[in-house]
Amino acid sequence: MYLSKWEEKALQGEFGEALQLSMNVLVKVCRALKAEKLVEISHAHVSGVSYFNIGDEGIEFLEDLVKKGAKTSIYTTANPASIAFLDKFRDSYSSEIIVKQRKIIDILMSIGIDRKSFTCIPYKLRMPVLGEHLAWAESSAVIYANSILGAKTNREGGITALMAAIAGRTCFSGMHLDENRCPTETIVIDFPIRSIAEASATGLYIGNAVRGIPYIKMKMYIDEKLKNVALRSFLASLASTSSCPLVLIEGVSPEAQKYVDKHSSLEKISIDFKDVQTFFDSMCSPILYLGCPHIDIDELELILRNSIEVLKILKIEKLYVSVPMYEQEKILKYIGSLEGIEIVYLPGACPVVSDLKNLKAMSTVHGKARHYIPKTAGASACLVDIV
Ligand code: F3S
Repeated sequence: MYLSKWEEKALQGEFGEALQLSMNVLVKVCRALKAEKLVEISHAHVSGVSYFNIGDEGIEFLEDLVKKGAKTSIYTTANPASIAFLDKFRDSYSSEIIVKQRKIIDILMSIGIDRKSFTCIPYKLRMPVLGEHLAWAESSAVIYANSILGAKTNREGGITALMAAIAGRTCFSGMHLDENRCPTETIVIDFPIRSIAEASATGLYIGNAVRGIPYIKMKMYIDEKLKNVALRSFLASLASTSSCPLVLIEGVSPEAQKYVDKHSSLEKISIDFKDVQTFFDSMCSPILYLGCPHIDIDELELILRNSIEVLKILKIEKLYVSVPMYEQEKILKYIGSLEGIEIVYLPGACPVVSDLKNLKAMSTVHGKARHYIPKTAGASACLVDIV
């Protein structure tokens, strides 16, 4: 594997222990991936922030990194944690968990991670441009960056993303190479997608069906301002039932244009509304969860404005909403309830990497939450259509 002079020196420890460790990990991973070289990146996004995911061993690892002098060398954001930064959600956890989760966040910020992040939509804080190389963990952000922005990132693991943040580099393999970004099959969605939940269900279905990089023909008839929320939920859902890092959506993905005339020669899969209906459930809880991936306050207001009558019909009593940390100040103005529905904001948090056993069940419009909440958070989840 080719290494530049600077990379050789970093690997030898000339620039300190933390950089040496990062280079060591990266070079080993790159060799396993048969990467010819490293590629410089401009933005790393780190996952594995929840105490429920990384535990005490994870904290020890992070503390050791700090002792070695770890600092990010490029702009770095982090995924949501398990506990929101507001008191209401913290009530559900023991003080020990709160202290440990806080410690993880403090260490990450001390290493150089943007304190306004702790979100799975880091592209709203800093939007990558076409062709830019990134090292992002978090499957929903990876598929968005590749598919909607035309940036280049593999689905990094939490550790490799952190090592890449310190070294400013990652392996030149997978999605960083143009030859791996071509469609291998065409998927035609035979019905118009009319809601966030329909987008989610369709994403879950395609994730189960897809084998490579799909070229997707689809139509969304959704309020223009909510289209991006639906698209994010579609991609996040697709990435949760597959390992797919990139899809080429006709008329949406910047790289899809190249294949407009060529995709018809690929194997074609058609999807009918009946196929995706199986992902809809009957109501399981009067608690509704929104924000997987995170939504911002403007998007939330629009969702609520368009759905308040449906929420009343469904007898929703409480709303949990995950929002990015940068929205924290804004939400302080809106805390409270809406027409009898209590709203609990979770800034910087993700219930999916939490412990929701006390809640028992959550309704949601998001396919990724429906897919993972039962597996990781100990509650059941159902997909319902509200907007
Ligand atoms: Fe984000 Fe958590 Fe969903 S990280 S995409 S809110 S599972």
